[in-house]
Amino acid sequence: MARLPIPEIVARMRHELLDWYESNKRDLPWRHTNDPYAIWVSEIMLQQTRVAVVIERWKGFLERFPTVQALAKADEQDVLALWSGLGYYRRARMLHKAAQTINAGHAGKMPSAATELRKLPGIGLYTAAAIASIAHGESVAVVDGNVERVLSRIRGWESHDAVGEAAVRRKVEEFSTALVDPRRPGDFNQAIMELGATVCTPRNPQCLVCPWRTECRTLGEHKTPKRAPMTRSEIACALVVWESDAGAEVLLEQRAATNTVMPGMWELPSLPEGDVVASEVRFTVRHAIMQVNYTVRVYALPPHEVSATAGNAADQRWVPVAEASAMALTGLARKVLTRAGLLQTSAHSKSAGFAPPAIRELV
Ligand code: ADE
Repeated sequence: MARLPIPEIVARMRHELLDWYESNKRDLPWRHTNDPYAIWVSEIMLQQTRVAVVIERWKGFLERFPTVQALAKADEQDVLALWSGLGYYRRARMLHKAAQTINAGHAGKMPSAATELRKLPGIGLYTAAAIASIAHGESVAVVDGNVERVLSRIRGWESHDAVGEAAVRRKVEEFSTALVDPRRPGDFNQAIMELGATVCTPRNPQCLVCPWRTECRTLGEHKTPKRAPMTRSEIACALVVWESDAGAEVLLEQRAATNTVMPGMWELPSLPEGDVVASEVRFTVRHAIMQVNYTVRVYALPPHEVSATAGNAADQRWVPVAEASAMALTGLARKVLTRAGLLQTSAHSKSAGFAPPAIRELV
């Protein structure tokens, strides 16, 4: 068990952190609302994506689904389409499911207590504490990776294996519970996460400007466990475009509903390497999923060659290019279609300087 800090130290640390937060906090759009639904969406997105990207995607999501009710009534495919490129689609599904649970079982109102929020699909300890403290002022501590790093550095807690990790985690939970300021729990929680994200960073922490430098036992000497290295892999997919009377259509394939990864989402048909001639590669994209860096070779195939080589015909559909953008595309499919010039570059799919071939060239 962690030794709890004495009350004067707790009071001082709260003061130091909140003062620092007032002068240094980033102006983030979800900090201008206390709508628990909007805060919930921001917290789910922040668990997986950089703040700069979340800013755009959060606004877009709330414009489309401004309330729990609007989200609950949405089609899952539309929710996934809007989530496309953010990854971790299970989180989007759970968000949608939880909205439906609230709409059906809680008279449409989100519960406010962290313990009640925890009962909703996809809301764990972290998310429940974040929503309850930020939107409702409940005095519960959040512990995410940033908080864990900040507090273990302060105390000099290190772990070398899974047992040690669990022990450090428990001590961090006790410490953060003692520290959270009951008068401003939402600000306190955001401040400590902000400190971890901007000052007490995994590498090169900025100890000279840290409000807790006089409290810290390690001052940059703490050993942060190294992340598992990324592995590399190569895959190939088929870009099949056909110009019908109604305009260009692209061949997409839906992943099986039983798939554990991105079930029900739409992607480009995959190609077995070897069956296609390397010189036909139209372009190459890089795409990271979890710990794997993929090099993806994109082949432009004529429609008559598809059935023999690409993907699984039963799950394939010709989709008008103009409709593809609104579908639940995988991040990789969206990236490839954007690079090919078939989708408009939008806030959530940036082209990387590739001059798109004309559709005629792809057909
Ligand atoms: N990381 C996740 N949520 C956050 C928040 N509300 N403020 C700062 N950092 C965060």
